[in-house]
Parts: sequence; structure tokens; C-alpha cells
Amino acid sequence: MESHATRLTQAHIHLDRLTHNLRLIAGEAPGALLWPVVKANAYGHGAQIVARHLVESGHRTLCVADVAEAMELKDASIDASYIVLSATLPEHSEALVANGFEVVVCTRDMVEALARESKKAQREISLHVKVDTGMGRIGIRPDDVSAFLAHCREFPTLRVRGLMSHFPRADEADKTYSIEQLKRFNRIVEATKDQGIEVYHMANSAAIFDLPDSHFDAVRPGIAIYGLRPSTDIANPKVGELRPVLELKSRITFLKEVPQGHGLSYGHAAHTARASLIATVPAGYGDGVSRGLSNDIDMLIRGTRCSQIGNVTMDMSLVDVTALRGQVKIGDEATLIGRDGTEEITADELAAKLGTINYEIVTRIGQRVPRVAVGN
Ligand SMILES: Cc1ncc(COP(=O)(O)O)c(C=O)c1O
Repeated sequence: MESHATRLTQAHIHLDRLTHNLRLIAGEAPGALLWPVVKANAYGHGAQIVARHLVESGHRTLCVADVAEAMELKDASIDASYIVLSATLPEHSEALVANGFEVVVCTRDMVEALARESKKAQREISLHVKVDTGMGRIGIRPDDVSAFLAHCREFPTLRVRGLMSHFPRADEADKTYSIEQLKRFNRIVEATKDQGIEVYHMANSAAIFDLPDSHFDAVRPGIAIYGLRPSTDIANPKVGELRPVLELKSRITFLKEVPQGHGLSYGHAAHTARASLIATVPAGYGDGVSRGLSNDIDMLIRGTRCSQIGNVTMDMSLVDVTALRGQVKIGDEATLIGRDGTEEITADELAAKLGTINYEIVTRIGQRVPRVAVGN
């Protein structure tokens, strides 16, 4: 038995739902290439499982954050074109060129380093010039586009394949800012349309659903492929058809009757209000269950919502299963995210409790949690 198969807390990755979500998204962006984003371990879903499934379903271009993420997938023999989305440093140019990764560029230093390296290796490299139309993060200024492109063209081994930008606020109900950004990007598209750029791309998940004019030649969906909404403010009702790909499941390893007033877990942050049956579940902050959620979340056991109680610890959490006395057993499944019977706990529910977004809930799932493909 592989060591990870002995782990009781597992992330179940429903590949059939991934396929469903991709079809839904493709239907929203007809005519555009679909370049799924698998950075940060595929938003916590397991980069290799997700990327392999995407490639097997015909998606040949994947977006990652950095060189290491692209290398991990390439080394796992997942044969795709990788676009490295974050800014890289000249010291990465050798690895970028040697592996044939596509590079998002926004500094002249990086362009020159890639030019030197690609000339040395006698290998053409594809660039995507990133323009900051309002994200306020990486990207050249819109008024620098034409000079920057001219600089890139000085080097015969560089090919500017794409010109791209990114939305910071497309997930908001009020699209005023995003529409302004889109106008800025459209002016750039117009000004560069004779310069051989093959792919203009801008849309993230929110924009795919709510800003059809932003689809251009390719879209870069992240959160939506995992079946999660970019926010609760997306207007397009189709977003309601997304299906969450990930479930976080564990098992009860210990059960104990305790009296009223019994202190539970580190710091005794909770005491039993009455004689209680308390279950131990081997999932804690080492698995990505934030300690900040202590005494605030539920787990589903035998289809029933049961309150987590006491501080979440590194490896274990306690659950009040008094309502299940006589039914619950050691070895029973405990669902932290996902469905059991008619009950469901969503990443959105946990995000609201933690004051964060669903992206962070799934991305933070610990490295030691095996990602297990189900529903292929
Ligand atoms: C440049 C870029 N494009 C696309 C995405 C995907 O965004 P989302 O997950 O909101 O679809 C991201 C994610 O952060 C990104 O950084």
C-alpha cells in the first residue's frame, strides 16, 4: 500500500465535474481558446491529476504561476504548452528556454535575457506581453506597448505570441471599472492589430461569465474550472451550473463520552454544555483546516451536520456527535467540504466564516492530503 493511501483525510477530485465545468465554460466563450489555470497545485486540487485530465480531454495549453510549477508538470510527462503567468527573473531564462515554456514578460531586462538565452540555444521562444490596464500589479503601462513591442522585435529568436491583461474587479456586480479597462485594452488591440500578435487574452472566470466582450482570442479560467464561483455577485445564471470538483473527506478515529463541563482540546477553548459524545477526526491545520475556524464549522457525519468543538489542532479536530449516539462508529466518514446525503458544506461556507474567499479555502489544503481522483 502506498503511504499516502493510509491517510485518512483525503481530497476527492471529481474529474467528471471538471469535464462538466470545462464544457460549461467553453459554451460561455465560444470561439475563444480555453487556457485553464492550474497554478498553486491547481488551486489545491492537485496539479498533476488536474493537468493530466485536462490534457487528456484535449486542452493543450495550461497556465501556471512559475517555472517550478511548469517543470513539475513537464517532469510528470504531462505534455502541454505551459504559460508562466507571474513575472520571472533573468536567472530563469535558461530553464524557460530549455523547456520551451511560454513566458509572460513586462520588463526589458527579461526580454533581453530571454533573447540571449534563446539565441544561445538556437530555439525560438514565445512571449506574452503583459499590459497593466488597471490591475495595479505586473505589466507595462499602456503607453509603453508600442515601444516595448518594438524592443521585442529587435531579437529574431523572440516571438510575441500574445498580448494580455488581467481584471482585478470583474467579479463585482458593478462592472464600471472593468468596462473602462476593457476600453483601454481594446485601444491597444486596435493599435497593434497589424503587428502579428496571434492571441489577445484577458478574461478570468468572472469575465468569462459576465463580460463577453472581453473574451478576445483566448480565456484563462481558474476558479470556475474547479466548480467554484468567482464571487456571489456574478450575474450570469449559468454560473449556478458549476459543480464543485473537490470534496475534503476524513474518518472518525476515536469516540468518547465526556461529562458536562469537560474542557476540550488546546487551551480548553470549549467546554461541554452537557454530557456529550465527542469524535476525533484526523484533520487539522496541517491539512489546511484553519485554526481560525475553531468552534465555528460543521462536519457531516452520517448525513447530519455536527459542530466542530474546541480548538482545531495541527493533526486532529473534535466534533460533537452527541446527536448520533447509538449510530456513529469509529471509522465513519466525516465530510469537511462536500456532500453527505442531502447536506452539503461548501468552500464558500468556510470562506464566509474565515473572512476570506473560496479560492483560499481550497488552495490552502495541506500538501500531505492525498488528492484522489474519483468519477473519471
Ligand atoms: C493572470 C491570471 N489569469 C487568470 C487567472 C484566473 O483567475 P480566476 O481563478 O479568477 O479565473 C489568474 C488567477 O489569479 C491570473 O493570475
